[in-house]
Amino acid sequence: MTPETFRLVVLASGTGSNLQAILDRLHGGPEGIRVVGVGSDKVGAPALERARNAGIETASFPREGYSDREARDAAMAEWIEGRRADLVVLAGYMQLLSAPFVARFRNRIVNVHPALLPRFPGLDAIGHALDAGVETTGVTVHFVDEGVDTGPVILQREVPVPADRDRALLEAAIHATEHALYSEAIRMIAAGRVRIDAGDRPTVAVDD
Ligand code: GRF
Repeated sequence: MTPETFRLVVLASGTGSNLQAILDRLHGGPEGIRVVGVGSDKVGAPALERARNAGIETASFPREGYSDREARDAAMAEWIEGRRADLVVLAGYMQLLSAPFVARFRNRIVNVHPALLPRFPGLDAIGHALDAGVETTGVTVHFVDEGVDTGPVILQREVPVPADRDRALLEAAIHATEHALYSEAIRMIAAGRVRIDAGDRPTVAVDD
């Protein structure tokens, strides 16, 4: 019997350090998880280079190539379905996904965010946490819904703000935590341990 494969498509706009962590920690490992495609809105995203280096199919969907955002997302959705993805993994994907895209992959899109949501959603969460004077911030992995960083939370981990409030140090600690937590969450989903309890405010339950 061929072991079952859990197929990931990763979307990334930038550096792709989270993509790299997924490639290093999960891709082709014993859990049967494989990255089967990496897509981007940026033709020159370093994340695409990382994917090519790992022999993974890539595609780019620049906004200017399509009449509007929905048309771009529809083309991207076709490509993702063609890769037979089980899960769409946002890893620094800096575009808002249109509502039809989110509906098409309902409960099958995840994101990593550099704060303890619902605190500091949106851009520059690390800067906002520093400005707010918090002593602890962290990382959240969540399902994606139509809002900005509002979907059901899967895992969260705290990261202490360094005593000198140095941004570079905090960023490094947050990125290291992201790399560990995202892999952990994807592993749990691939193992079928993550359920969404539907309702007005859906929540996530994790089975042992
Ligand atoms: C990460 O900090 C992630 O939380 C945010 O975008 C950043 C992506 O970094 N959504 P990288 O491209 O994975 O290095």
